[in-house]
Amino acid sequence: MTSSTTGVVAGERFAALREHAEAVYAAWRHPERPRIDVAIDTSSLASGAGATRAALERVAADRNAAVDLGRNHGYGMQWLQPLVTITWPDGTSVLYGPVRPEDAPSIVDEATGRVGAAAALASGVLAGDRPGIPSVREHPFFANEPRERRLLRNIGLTDPESLEHYIGSGGYRAVGRMLERHQQPEQVRQLLIDAALTGRGGAYFPTGVKWNFLAGAPTDERYLVCNADEGDPGAWVNRVILEGDPHLLIEGMVFGGFATGARHGFIYIRDEYPLAVERVDQAIRQAEAAGLLGEDILGSGFRFTLEVIRGAGAYVCGDETGLLSSISDMRGQPRIKPPFPAVSGVFFKPTNVNNVESYSNAPFVLRNGPEWYQAEGTEEMHGTRLFTFSGDIPRAGFMEVPFGTPLPALLEACGGISGGRGLGALQSGGPLGSLLPGAVLPTLDTTLNAFRAHGGSLGSGGMIFMSDETCPVHFNEFIADFVEEESCGRCTTCHHGNQRMTEVFRRIIDGGGRREDRHNLEMIDTTIQNSNCQHGQLSPTVMRNTLRHFAPTYDAHVAGHACPTLTCEGLTRFRVVDQSDPRLPEAVDICPVDAFRGAEGDWEILDDRCIRCGACTDVAPRGVAREPVPARPALVPVG
Ligand SMILES: Cc1cc2nc3c(=O)[nH]c(=O)nc-3n(C[C@H](O)[C@H](O)[C@H](O)COP(=O)(O)O)c2cc1C
Repeated sequence: MTSSTTGVVAGERFAALREHAEAVYAAWRHPERPRIDVAIDTSSLASGAGATRAALERVAADRNAAVDLGRNHGYGMQWLQPLVTITWPDGTSVLYGPVRPEDAPSIVDEATGRVGAAAALASGVLAGDRPGIPSVREHPFFANEPRERRLLRNIGLTDPESLEHYIGSGGYRAVGRMLERHQQPEQVRQLLIDAALTGRGGAYFPTGVKWNFLAGAPTDERYLVCNADEGDPGAWVNRVILEGDPHLLIEGMVFGGFATGARHGFIYIRDEYPLAVERVDQAIRQAEAAGLLGEDILGSGFRFTLEVIRGAGAYVCGDETGLLSSISDMRGQPRIKPPFPAVSGVFFKPTNVNNVESYSNAPFVLRNGPEWYQAEGTEEMHGTRLFTFSGDIPRAGFMEVPFGTPLPALLEACGGISGGRGLGALQSGGPLGSLLPGAVLPTLDTTLNAFRAHGGSLGSGGMIFMSDETCPVHFNEFIADFVEEESCGRCTTCHHGNQRMTEVFRRIIDGGGRREDRHNLEMIDTTIQNSNCQHGQLSPTVMRNTLRHFAPTYDAHVAGHACPTLTCEGLTRFRVVDQSDPRLPEAVDICPVDAFRGAEGDWEILDDRCIRCGACTDVAPRGVAREPVPARPALVPVG
């Protein structure tokens, strides 16, 4: 076949797929009878979506109700999970949450015509109009999202397990067009360069430039890798795409394969994301069956295949070179760079590694062009990015915002700090990222430079807001423990350096801080810079931020042997302050180490047994209080 014939074939095959898919998707949006979709994703399941769905099925069956049950992905408001959507035949669609099993009768009532039965659970209108219920787009949580979502355009509005929904809503169209019109690989790469799309894994390196590196490799055996390891605590942006719109990633990787000459790709998903593994795997099979992946995509002669690799739970395998080792059946240890992956990657062959969100942006750039892409964002950073928000906030969830969005506006969208408290610290970018004090919030926006100005990093999408009741020194012990535990052990600087850092913080929170600790921590920081990989090199960042931004709190722990927030175990004790609190017996019962002694009306807590877990104050806040341990005699500095 000539290239013009293959182009016609690709165009015709895609047109046939599209026609069928559009009909299926139109029927989903205007069902013959009301449909109740339960959000099925990791966070909804953790909130009880399985039980909610079972209750809805039971109620619908018992009543022989004229409704169908379906599935979608949560819309972003994770504090309202389990979320449920009702779609009526006229196309009106309303989101409800949190929907508990006991709410199933009112949801079924609402779906089958008793308007208002579930009004108290309504969270917003997704499509059409429902008197008395505002559009979900008017919810303050989404105040900073662009008018039209990009990466999240299908989230909550399609069945993530349906290829037809993806194609019917515009998906794979640019692939069809690219193959029909014989776009050249260099044209595709140039579009990404013109858009200035940058990688979303944390380093923000230009994606098109990276694709050029691989395209220039002097061999035909090249690979594409998607980094879906997402190990940062507090980040689940990649999971949203993997579970909520897996074909978006696949489409982005098809472009990557075409543009770089790679013929096979690996999607490396962390093992802790079983639903993501299942959905991406299923989406690959669907794309293969439809001729969108395989030996001869849409009859064009272009070959590209994909497979899922399950990670094994090592944080360093998120580092691109650790990930390459892991895929190559080697121990999950990072490699020294250079050589860079474009020279020596999977099985030591030229490879391109990108994050899930980086690949997922490509279809939008190719569908709509670089100018459209750059219409959102700033001069410094173009486009949008997904963020997940968690911590001491009433509204945890995910959203897509343009680069440059002010952080104070994002905290406001999340409802501020719970209980009217102040913002103590902002943690971004995971354990290798940053810890910045609440005081700098007004100067922060979602750009690299804003964070760098304070010695921090924007990171890969996870943002944790901590109240002023959080102890930054205690948090450092958690981070030090994490980076030590996750060190691959290959270089002594990282492995032992992080052990020493953990020991110092553990001693400080235990009440044994010493004056020379700051000097020792700074020395560890300098030494760890000599580690072979970025895990080691970046592991002291949170500690460095703490010594710089939280110096008075750090000094209070070390010089004053006091924890201002009464968090640190060795500097805090628990006392029974009100023997008449009727909840005290519950507090006594809940104590896991039997630290309560005495009898009703005469309880005391034994310091040497108490592990400072705080369960008793949670149960009986009036009866039990935290207080500082009495001052100790000054310790004699060593050395
Ligand atoms: C210890 C460590 C863990 C990392 N974890 C991830 C991860 O989970 N996902 C990711 O995309 N990048 C992670 N990175 C960054 C990757 O090494 C790499 O820069 C990224 O995958 C490149 O993709 P991008 O250009 O699309 O951002 C990690 C880096 C380090 C040092």
